[in-house]
Amino acid sequence: MRPADFLNKRFFSALSWFGKRRFIHNKAVTDYMVKDFLSSTPDHILVTGDLTNLSLPCEYDRALEWLQSLGTPDTVTAIPGNHDLLLDATGAQNGLLQNAAYMSTDKAGKANTALTFPFCKRRKNVVFIGLSTSIETPIGWCSGRLGEMQRDRLRHILDEAGRENLCRIVALHHPPAGPQKKRGGLEDLDAFAKIIAEYGAELILHGHTHHPSLHTLPGPEGPVPVLGVASLSVQPGKGYPEGCWHEYEVHWHEDKWVISLIIHRYAGINAPTILAAQMLLNSA
Ligand SMILES: [Fe+2]
Repeated sequence: MRPADFLNKRFFSALSWFGKRRFIHNKAVTDYMVKDFLSSTPDHILVTGDLTNLSLPCEYDRALEWLQSLGTPDTVTAIPGNHDLLLDATGAQNGLLQNAAYMSTDKAGKANTALTFPFCKRRKNVVFIGLSTSIETPIGWCSGRLGEMQRDRLRHILDEAGRENLCRIVALHHPPAGPQKKRGGLEDLDAFAKIIAEYGAELILHGHTHHPSLHTLPGPEGPVPVLGVASLSVQPGKGYPEGCWHEYEVHWHEDKWVISLIIHRYAGINAPTILAAQMLLNSA
């Protein structure tokens, strides 16, 4: 880190990180939770953003190493969070590009060298639709926005995938339903909700709030579940839910997608994760 790296919004985020957040997020907790979810041999892993804290070049290197430790882009998908584009500067854009293989549509036999959102990653009859809500915001803000171009493309993707009866799993970092953080919400959530109301989706996943949450958005054939996952890395006693990961199962059953969820919560090093909740998210 160089002093010149902090002559901008990053300075205030660094104050928050060094003064408070570094005592909340813990590498040992993260490592333990990773071991826990890898042991369940998931078909696919979806990371809902904020891989970095301050968008520093060295953090993107570590973020990529961490993604690689989870698996290859065949089995791992990630989307960016607000911390991953704290500054809309060349360094941050290039840093994000390092993760392009995990944040883009599959290209047979070719390395991904560009980021275009939304991207689609299809696995059997499931399609992961990755969006970016990462924008540079004023000091003290952490809001997100999809923008018109992404929303336009999302309409087409949802429409086409819906006609194929694919299980459409939409991922975006900021919550598109439920309470919004003051100065930290999704700016175009109403426009997003209109798209879901018209074209539907089977499941919408987000991060950002550091709390597990379940809301719904109206879809053309019934409510669409919107799930938020708590941070993976929070250690106990810090005022936030302890590290969590969500385990989803999807099945095509009697002409509809049936989705179930188990929430795993950190309970101490070498202790089995707690089954925090188990529920069925029936999709119409
Ligand atoms: Fe965030």
